[in-house]
Amino acid sequence: MTANIVFWDAPLTDQQLIRLTLLTEKVFGPLTKDRIKNKLKDKSAISVIIATNDSDDVLGFKIGFEATPNTYYSWLGAVAPSQQRKGLGKQLMVAQHMWCIHQGYQFVETKTLNKWRSMLLLNIRSGFDITGTREDDVHGTEILLRKRLKQ
Ligand SMILES: CC(C)(COP(=O)(O)OP(=O)(O)OC[C@H]1O[C@@H](n2cnc3c(N)ncnc32)[C@H](O)[C@@H]1OP(=O)(O)O)[C@@H](O)C(=O)NCCC(=O)NCCS
Repeated sequence: MTANIVFWDAPLTDQQLIRLTLLTEKVFGPLTKDRIKNKLKDKSAISVIIATNDSDDVLGFKIGFEATPNTYYSWLGAVAPSQQRKGLGKQLMVAQHMWCIHQGYQFVETKTLNKWRSMLLLNIRSGFDITGTREDDVHGTEILLRKRLKQ
């Protein structure tokens, strides 16, 4: 499936946050727009990449920000349950990595949980290495991943 891939400028408007949370609540359960807003408020080089259909419905998204001057952090992403396994998650990741290369980042890092198996598999298939695990009081075992963007 080919979606329209668009970048939303940060800071996101309330309307954009509402459109995002309509999707995130289907995937992650309650995740308020304030949580997204607060997470991004002190971050730099924020990218918000959105997949839409021709009716401009948000089908998927990927959000990241700078971790260090040479490493980008991919924070959160999801595709609407009804639209999964059609290639959108991959398209969003490719768009994010191309943007990161263009911005001069050498690495992209992310983390996930065992329960987000589809993302773990997509990351592994897209060239990420597992670099470690970390015990988190809230989430349990977090899996840390890193990919070199170019040789
Ligand atoms: C992870 C997620 C964004 C992937 O989006 P998607 O559009 O379904 O992924 P794609 O269709 O682009 O998949 C690309 C490849 O990833 C792998 N993959 C994705 N989902 C998979 C699954 N459930 N089982 C096995 N492989 C999977 C496959 O290799 C797939 O290629 P293929 O379909 O040709 O075999 C989506 O499953 C999702 O929103 N999951 C819940 C939210 C989540 O886990 N977020 C991350 C929290 S850290």
